[in-house]
Amino acid sequence: MLVSAKKMLNDAKAGKYAVGQFNINNLEWTKAILLTAEELRSPVILGVSEGAGKYMCGFKTVTDMTKAMIDYLGVTVPVALHLDHGTYDGCYAAMKAGFSSVMFDGSHYAIDENIQKTKQIIADASAQGISVEAEVGAIGGEEDGVIGGGEVADPAECKMIADLGVTMLAAGIGNIHGKYPENWAGLRFDVLDAIQQKTGAMPLVLHGGTGIPADMIRKAISLGVSKINVNTECQLSFAAATRTYIEAGRDLQGKGFDPRKLLAPGVEAIKATVKEKMELFGSVNKA
Ligand code: 13P
Repeated sequence: MLVSAKKMLNDAKAGKYAVGQFNINNLEWTKAILLTAEELRSPVILGVSEGAGKYMCGFKTVTDMTKAMIDYLGVTVPVALHLDHGTYDGCYAAMKAGFSSVMFDGSHYAIDENIQKTKQIIADASAQGISVEAEVGAIGGEEDGVIGGGEVADPAECKMIADLGVTMLAAGIGNIHGKYPENWAGLRFDVLDAIQQKTGAMPLVLHGGTGIPADMIRKAISLGVSKINVNTECQLSFAAATRTYIEAGRDLQGKGFDPRKLLAPGVEAIKATVKEKMELFGSVNKA
């Protein structure tokens, strides 16, 4: 069964750990993440960008696949299926298709329009028990065609969005999607602290989890981050393991070209990355 992200994130905030959102791209990704969460007894959030949703033949296909997989694999830990960086219409399409959580990314609108649209989505989502993530201060970099300027959020605006009753809030604090450049200045912990002071018990979300050093992750959690998004790192792990397999010529040995063999090292690599993150985030045995 899919659950809203509300309880798992409120528990994480109170317990000073974070739940990972791992983005999915296909059946292998979904299976690898679900199996790891179950093995480690960790709650988990499966993130789906609008681009990945299209790639997987629509939100309904994703919901049906995920629900059937949870059932087939006997997954008992809490799993939220979450739209990542959704547009206004995308949020409604995901909710209709059975997603248990949505992110409305209104960070590129003026704050008044962001508030008005976020408010409407919260009203419609909460009536169906669906959790809502909002965003203030665009996350830097590019993810699936969503490009953000890397702004630093204004804590006063964060408070305005938090007061709407949003489940969790993504605030830009110098984080970037994808790999961090050599000259990255690091996370703005002063801003994160100010946001937490203003928004109190509300879970905060850290996007761009790939490549943030462990000590910064721990500090962010200590300052109220309860959800951390990881996407690129699983892609890099998968690609590196697949490259090693092919460069060693293993696809040419016996039936090494069989997709179940060819994709297996990549799947194991995703599992290892997810395990490492769950241990770092502190969500192991919290299901
Ligand atoms: P990374 O791709 O940098 O891990 O970011 C993931 C993310 O924030 C998804 O919204």
